[in-house]
Amino acid sequence: MAASLAENKKVLDLFHGDGYCWAGIEGVSVFGIDKKKTPDAVKGNSLKMIPALDLSRYGSIDCDVYGVPYKVLGALFLNGTLQPGTIVLFTFIFSVFGRTGDLTLSLGITKDQLDACPSLFRPYAFIAFEQFLLDNGIKKYYNINVKNKNYGMFIIPGKREVANGNDDL
Ligand SMILES: C[S@@+](CC[C@H](N)C(=O)[O-])C[C@H]1O[C@@H](n2cnc3c(N)ncnc32)[C@H](O)[C@@H]1O
Repeated sequence: MAASLAENKKVLDLFHGDGYCWAGIEGVSVFGIDKKKTPDAVKGNSLKMIPALDLSRYGSIDCDVYGVPYKVLGALFLNGTLQPGTIVLFTFIFSVFGRTGDLTLSLGITKDQLDACPSLFRPYAFIAFEQFLLDNGIKKYYNINVKNKNYGMFIIPGKREVANGNDDL
């Protein structure tokens, strides 16, 4: 996996943090963004920067968010420079206090229901996430689930139809 990423042009690391995930991988050129000041990333809000980025420059895009990657993926899907063949990596992490926002709402689960019983309703967010991927032309993804954490990836297919607008950045 690391070798194929290395062959695959640059990595756009949208939630770079301290850069641990990419630090040990040789031959990969990483452009990192993080909202906090770090030694080797550009400081900024990735969600706001994505519309202005030329995504065709990157072979892989890393979305290692703390919670649910719905907004960031929505912004990527809407950027017309996203190329077929681009590898997108994501994390999807449930926490009792984590926000699943529009994802659970899209299933008809209201904010009141979520607030009343978050542990019952939040798992449904992953079902909504799968539908969101499908709506954006992603029919196949890989995911490793460890308790409340999901580590996943997919490849942007050759032909894509974007169904979901997301201008709520
Ligand atoms: C799970 S950590 C990433 C860890 C990183 N992959 C590593 O290897 O060190 C998530 C990071 O996203 C950053 N972050 C959260 N929201 C952001 C945003 N809107 N734009 C840019 N960075 C953000 C946080 O500051 C944090 O460093």
